[in-house]
Amino acid sequence: MTSNSQLPTPNSQPGSPTIALIGANGMLASAVKRLLPVGYQLHAYDLPEFDLTDREQVLALRDLKPAIILNCAAYTNVDGCESHSELAMRVNGEGPGFLAQLAAEIDAVLVHVSTDFVFSGDKKEPYREEDPTGPLSVYGISKLLGEQRIIQSGLEKYFIVRTSWLYGLGGNNFVETMVRLAKERTELKVVDDQRGTPTWTDDLAEAIFKLLAVIDAPHPSPLTPHQPYGIYHFSGEGECSWYQFAVEIIDQARKFEGLKVENILPIPTEGYPLPAQRPKYSVMSKEKYKAATGIQVPDWRESLRKYFEKRT
Ligand SMILES: NC(=O)c1ccc[n+]([C@@H]2O[C@H](COP(=O)([O-])OP(=O)(O)OC[C@H]3O[C@@H](n4cnc5c(N)ncnc54)[C@H](OP(=O)(O)O)[C@@H]3O)[C@@H](O)[C@H]2O)c1
Repeated sequence: MTSNSQLPTPNSQPGSPTIALIGANGMLASAVKRLLPVGYQLHAYDLPEFDLTDREQVLALRDLKPAIILNCAAYTNVDGCESHSELAMRVNGEGPGFLAQLAAEIDAVLVHVSTDFVFSGDKKEPYREEDPTGPLSVYGISKLLGEQRIIQSGLEKYFIVRTSWLYGLGGNNFVETMVRLAKERTELKVVDDQRGTPTWTDDLAEAIFKLLAVIDAPHPSPLTPHQPYGIYHFSGEGECSWYQFAVEIIDQARKFEGLKVENILPIPTEGYPLPAQRPKYSVMSKEKYKAATGIQVPDWRESLRKYFEKRT
């Protein structure tokens, strides 16, 4: 396991709350590490030294006694999950349950990141936290199992933060794929009949810290009168199709680098067959998050602009 001494943690102070960051080498975790607010001490855990599916290894974190366990680990290859369902269920399903057991034992807060793919996509308006789930893929089923394991563990102090269409520095993602392809090809075909909302990792990392800050806030909001814990949705504000996302990416990327692409064509899902089925519509309502934190959510286009500025 990686000790925090190997990480850049310039903001850490002795005696400040300790965070055990699980999946610390991933894309979201890299934003968490960069944006760590003053007053937290970070301890980082990831494969190969630390395996979330090893219950004993997870429970051994009791010796660190972190105040917060932040789970950014997951098996995130959505199509790979279809052919590796057992691994998906262990990493995305059982692992979060082990973290919940640990959190309950040491009275820590568990923050777990989940996905819009727990929904079927049948709705025509933004999904709320209490809406029925109905995953269409092994990935979605395994992530839903992770949520259920946490909720059924009896742990009270948890945040399950569902997010969507994540991109950021330090990871493979749709934005980087589009920019790479736009340098290689003159024409791109992108699915136009799946709608959702892009989310910048930096926005999500900040949202997680804002939710943690609510725990200590003196006046809970009307939406969270007794305690702030539970499920929250967080993504950018607004919505688009993958095609519209791609058009915006190329438009913004052109300001920073030379691209070969001339045409971007909208196609139906059937025109780009993939092993895993995706929801046609997975926009999520952020009303609960906004009410709890009192903070507005940035528009997805604005966040994409900030990403490109930071990326260069
Ligand atoms: N990416 C998206 O578009 C998206 C959308 C919605 C929700 N989410 C959720 O957001 C969270 C963060 O996603 P991300 O894109 O930042 O993920 P990521 O870049 O794939 O990072 C996940 C990290 O977890 C590690 N990991 C995998 N299995 C593990 C295990 N058994 N034990 C310990 N660590 C393990 C991975 O290591 P290896 O790389 O070595 O496997 C990787 O470092 C996840 O919960 C994901 O489900 C993502």
